[in-house]
Amino acid sequence: MITYHEQNRTIKLDTPNTSYVLGIREGGFLLNLYYGRRLPDDNLWSLAKRLKSASFSPCDPDDPNFSQDVAPMEYPTNGRGDFRVCALSVRGADGSSVTDLRYVSHRVTAGKPDLPGLPHLYVTDDTQCETLEVTLCDPCTNVEAVLVYTVFHDCDVIAKHVRLTNRGNQTVKLERALSSCVDLPSMDFDLVTLWGRHAKERQLERRPLGHGLQGIHSIRGSSSHSHNPFAALVQTGATETTGDVYGFNLIYSGNFTLTAEVDHDATTRVVMGIDPTDFGWLLAPGDTFVTPEAVHVFSADGLGSMSRTFHRCYDAHLIRGRWQKQKRPLLINSWEAAYFDFDTDKLISFAERAKELGIEMLVMDDGWFGKRNDDTNSLGDGFINEKKLNLGRLIATVHGMGLKFGIWYEPEMISPDSDLFRAHPDWCVHVPGRTPSIARQQYVLDVSRPDVRENIFAQMRSVLGTYPIDYVKWDFNRNLSEASSALLPAERSGEFFHRFVLGTYALQDRLTREFPNLLLENCSGGGGRFDPGMLYYSPQIWTSDNTDPIERLNIQFGTSLCYPASSMGAHVSACDRTGYRTKGDVALWGTFGYELDPNKLGTEDREIVKAQVKDYHKYYDLIHSGELYRLLCPWDNAFVCAWSFVSEDKREALVTVVRMRRQDDVLLHLKLQGLDPDAMYTVEDTGETYSGALLMYAGLEMTDKAWDDGESCKLHLLAE
Ligand code: DGJ
Repeated sequence: MITYHEQNRTIKLDTPNTSYVLGIREGGFLLNLYYGRRLPDDNLWSLAKRLKSASFSPCDPDDPNFSQDVAPMEYPTNGRGDFRVCALSVRGADGSSVTDLRYVSHRVTAGKPDLPGLPHLYVTDDTQCETLEVTLCDPCTNVEAVLVYTVFHDCDVIAKHVRLTNRGNQTVKLERALSSCVDLPSMDFDLVTLWGRHAKERQLERRPLGHGLQGIHSIRGSSSHSHNPFAALVQTGATETTGDVYGFNLIYSGNFTLTAEVDHDATTRVVMGIDPTDFGWLLAPGDTFVTPEAVHVFSADGLGSMSRTFHRCYDAHLIRGRWQKQKRPLLINSWEAAYFDFDTDKLISFAERAKELGIEMLVMDDGWFGKRNDDTNSLGDGFINEKKLNLGRLIATVHGMGLKFGIWYEPEMISPDSDLFRAHPDWCVHVPGRTPSIARQQYVLDVSRPDVRENIFAQMRSVLGTYPIDYVKWDFNRNLSEASSALLPAERSGEFFHRFVLGTYALQDRLTREFPNLLLENCSGGGGRFDPGMLYYSPQIWTSDNTDPIERLNIQFGTSLCYPASSMGAHVSACDRTGYRTKGDVALWGTFGYELDPNKLGTEDREIVKAQVKDYHKYYDLIHSGELYRLLCPWDNAFVCAWSFVSEDKREALVTVVRMRRQDDVLLHLKLQGLDPDAMYTVEDTGETYSGALLMYAGLEMTDKAWDDGESCKLHLLAE
């Protein structure tokens, strides 16, 4: 609900359990009075008071207590006396970058506007949310900023983006155009972020805030393995189940910044948006620039509840299309089974064995096109390698067995050894006069160019339109360097990175529109582009190339901070760190599949796999529609990890425990969460019965489950 209090000049945005309050101050300054647990409709102006500590900074001549430098500014700008990190900086025709935004008007509407060309949260019906648009304007340049906030009625989420329009008559340049700013009156927080690298994505890091700037960013051209566009401010001492937590996530797949600044008054400002490094956007009179959308979640009950809010929201309002709710096919992927070494018959043999095990789809990974038998060539040549493959026969045979069929692409890349590169050497991202740098033996195609996109799409269509293909894995295997486009004039070179991302979005949008039945899975050397931007186009993303179940625990726990189980590609592979049971128990958490040669499975392991396939069906609804509870996290406990999915009605739960390292002589009372304390639950395998209260408050005694390193167990609880 959004309410405007005319007398107080405040606007209050309420989700079911949170409030976000704006104040319009004299002089037209828009302030962020409050964000947190839901409040009644009090006058909140007292919260705008700050210490009189801006003695060197400009103050309101009529009110020396008001300075932008210490006020909680809603969308802070550059050069007018707020010296903290700002959200907007516009260089005017006079060369100055002073930017000043004053309130003009606001309006509230039902529903939510689209962000053209950008992924965003959506609703299926205007009654599901309300949107506030606050219009601000710079009186000198006439640059207008419309701050757009959507509150959802079914989850504690506030989405926010900004529409910047040049209403003046001279061209200006946006040098910094962030999506959101939140000013909090305390620094008693830890900053939680997800760092990583290839095969070690989204590792949780928690550090206390200190004075000054801290945060994460990417300037790699994609959201990247190194940092995920997610951060949380976690009240000092808050845990999985207790304490105030602010979660932030940017719906964007390119360069981003997520920065917190603590000032001399111990207040904390968080800004997020496109990273300003190498960013500059010319705005001619009448032009509009739309920032990516930022997602804000507040939880008064710790990190677990924050995560569940993100999950519910993304399952309902981000993931789209036919596959949003439809059960995803259980797949087997050829990569770890064969790498580039396959032909039609080998893949058919995978499908035959997979079929016997109950697997539902065969995915042919890298190596089917051009003359590609290793990673030195052929990206850009999306025609079938007929020496290696009879695609028609392969698909007909696989479909004939009742299996679906999927295929791998890396559309934004080009090999120097490719027909496409020989025909269009200028189509790769490069700076004329400099040799483009090579990474993983490949260059990047300049997808900011419509002609390049057209070629990529035509090539994809010639395969996808000819053969009945059910699934595409869209890969992206390098960072961008020499980032520049031949089509952009010098003064627009700062637009390249964002235009590149828009180009990727345009391609994925077109693909999913023209092939609405296709199941798209994004990937980037594992999970290097695991972000909500990609999730808007593909309901699932390959989480990591690391399929070792013990390493996966950190990766999946970290990913789950923000992203739902339905989005996490998780496969059982031949890696021998643990037995198949543990591999299956860990992979069940995501969109389940296999990454191995099924011909090589021993008799005993085949039986385990068959049982896993049954489990996949048995627990699918519980895992994909239930709520995740992280019970013992790898960042808190080096020995045991545990998590559970609990059905919405609390009648059913699946608890999974993995012993990472044996720890003798230590009791394990596993306290469950999210159950009905008054219900009696039966453990399916043993028939033992416990109350929800006992399971949650005393814990389930699991010490005698004396498993060895790397073993796991699952408990299925059903309420009587
Ligand atoms: C990186 C992906 O993460 C892998 O799963 C595989 O598809 C390879 N690329 C293929 O080159």
